[in-house]
This record gives sequence, C-alpha cells and structure tokens, in this order.
Amino acid sequence: MPGTVTSVFLDACRRRPVPWTPVWFMRQAGRSLPEYRALRREGSILDVIRHPELAAEITLQPVRRYGVDAAILYSDIVAPVAAVGFGIDVVPGVGPVAEQPFTRPADLARLRELEPPEDLPWVAETVRLLVGELEVPLIGFAGAPFTVASYLVEGRPSRDHLRTKALMYEDPATWHALVDRLAAIAVASLQSQLEAGAAAVQVFDSWVGALDPDDYRRHVLPATARIFSALQDWGAPMILFGVGAGGLLDAFAETGADVIGVDWRVPLDVARARLGPAPALQGNLDPAVCAAGWEPTAAKARDVLDRVGGAPGHVFNLGHGVLPGTDPAVLERLVELVHEETRERGETGGPGVPGGTPA
Ligand code: CP3
Repeated sequence: MPGTVTSVFLDACRRRPVPWTPVWFMRQAGRSLPEYRALRREGSILDVIRHPELAAEITLQPVRRYGVDAAILYSDIVAPVAAVGFGIDVVPGVGPVAEQPFTRPADLARLRELEPPEDLPWVAETVRLLVGELEVPLIGFAGAPFTVASYLVEGRPSRDHLRTKALMYEDPATWHALVDRLAAIAVASLQSQLEAGAAAVQVFDSWVGALDPDDYRRHVLPATARIFSALQDWGAPMILFGVGAGGLLDAFAETGADVIGVDWRVPLDVARARLGPAPALQGNLDPAVCAAGWEPTAAKARDVLDRVGGAPGHVFNLGHGVLPGTDPAVLERLVELVHEETRERGETGGPGVPGGTPA
C-alpha cells in the first residue's frame, strides 16, 4: 500500500536521497533467532511455509527484533520447483535434495508451468497477511535459473557444480531449455508475490560465481535478463545477488536489475568504480565477521559505510546470509550503528550536497 510503507529502502534502491542508509539481512529470519527455533516445527521448510500465519510470523520476527528497513518473505528458492512436482525437498542441515536429479531432456517434462494460485497459494496468502501488518516494504524473491538448475542437476548442494557445467557444455540445447523453464517459473512466482503486495524482488543467484563471464553471458544471462524484463512494468525495485561473483559484476549490470548485491570479496568503492553511477549496490559485510562478535563487526561496518561515502544508491546488507551461530545482539547493534552513523553523516544521496535536507 503506497504511502503507508516507509520507503527508505525503496528510495535507496532507486538511488534517491534517503535520511539514513537502509539495512536488512539476507537470512534474517532463521536459526540465529531463539524465537524462530521456538516456533519452527520439525520437518522441511517447504512444509512450514504451507501455513501462512506461521510463515508471516517468522518473517516478522527479525523486523521486530532488529528494526530492519525491509522484510524478506520466509520461503525458499526451491519452493516453486517443488510445487510443480519435480521431486525436491529441503533437508534441515543439508539444503535442497532431489531424489532423481535432472539428467536428460526427458526430465524437462518434470518442470511444467507454474500456476501460483493452484500450485502454492500459501505464498501469496503469506504476502497478503504481511502487507497488512508491515510498516516496511516486503521483499519477494526467487532463485535465479543457474542456482536452481544446479540443485536440480546435482541433486544436492555442490561445491564444484561439475554436473551442472557438464550439461551446459555437452548439451547446450537441453541446458537452455532448462534455464528458460526456470526463468518462466521464477517470473510466475515473482508476479504472484508482487500482485499480493511485495514491494521489491530479489533474484538469488547464489552459486553463479562458479562461472566465468563468457559462459555467464552465453549460458545464463539471457534467461536471467528475461526475468527482469518480464517484471519491469511493475516498477518495483529488482535486486540481483550472487556469491563470489566479483568477476561477473559487469555482466550482472547487463541483466536489467536495478540493484546489484555484492559479497564481501569486492569492496563497494571498487564495485562502484567498475559499474558507474547506476545501478544501486547492496551489501557487503562479511557474515563471518558478525559471527566473530561486536568489535570486528563495528569496525568492518564503518569501513563499508566509508567506502560508499554517502553516495546515493546503497542498501546495507551482509555479503551473504546470516550464519547460524550469529548472536542476534550483534545484528541488533549493527542496525543501530548503520542508522545512527548515516543519519549523523547527513547522508542525502545527493552527490555534492553533503548534509543537505532529504527530499
Ligand atoms: O531470511 C531470509 O533470507 C528469507 C528466507 C529464505 C530462506 N532461504 C529460508 C531458509 C531465503 C531468501 C532463502 C533462499 C535460499 N535458499 C537460497 C539463496 C540465498 C543463499 O543463502 O544463498 C539458497 C541457496 C537456498 C537453498 C537452501 N535452503 C539452503 C542452502 C538451505 C540451508 C540448509 C541448512 O539447513 O543448512 C536452505 C534451508 C533454509 N532456507 C533455512 C532457512 C531459514 C534453514 C533451515 C530451516 O529452517 O529449514
């Protein structure tokens, strides 16, 4: 509902002036929160999210505790492919596991079109419950074609993505058909989240850093770019995030995403120099630093802010998800630090107008 939602996060995504730097954390909902462990039932996250009241409550927990500037829907990137019946589940402590991995062209038949109202109505219902309660924007999300494909092809989390790359090189026609289908599934899923009231979307390409820029542009970028072009007319900020994807930043900027998520391996001033004034940047404190305690967290967080230097278009985040052992008190103080220091700095987002009044 425009007007009722604090727009600091959305403004920063659009590189508009902001009164403070907005912050949220990937994996802000989850195992590091005692209130999550208290609520969380046994079994797969894919079963938990079938209960909209419960999924909404889990989404709200970190917003209440941390005072972050955006909420991210509690769900998982494999929920849509599970919903069309591919045969994949999320095993606690392991991650997504497919009993029969994708190995041949015939497996494409296991990835029919996603029809959100029939296949996973609980996701849109959770979004609707949340937008009625939240005072900050809700971020919807989907897995990017490469990262979801890697789970389907490998059958489980993988370090080298060898089978995925083998399919890509040996049978490019099947590979392209696979990522095209996954892009269509992501579009359908994101559209239903936007329709239900999500204010921004993030596409997680967590494992695409395994590719070189040439293969990325040839085998992955077109399908990923199609997601953003299909959603462009919503006018909702669109974020693209990858881990270890420093070598792909320039290519990420060609996808049509409004915001690029950067992990801690590339300092934000370096990323900005490479990408120019557009797009907005999100990141990029090493989550391991937060797990190490408050002093290193404060020092590194200040370094992140210094490297941005009050320039427009920064959303503070970790360079990847919150690690399970992280003390929630550290994240609480981190949100305060980012808010206070950027307020003091009078960050306006307007280049050359330090200390100016926010619009
Ligand atoms: O707080 C949030 O960020 C919102 C919810 C969210 C989850 N997964 C919840 C979850 C989001 C945005 C995701 C996306 C996701 N899922 C990604 C992309 C982000 C990233 O971390 O790179 C990936 C790669 C997955 C696949 C996946 N799901 C993995 C690797 C795991 C971890 C397995 C484990 O238990 O160690 C999951 C499970 C999962 N998804 C959990 C949560 C809170 C953890 C445990 C659970 O409650 O089942």
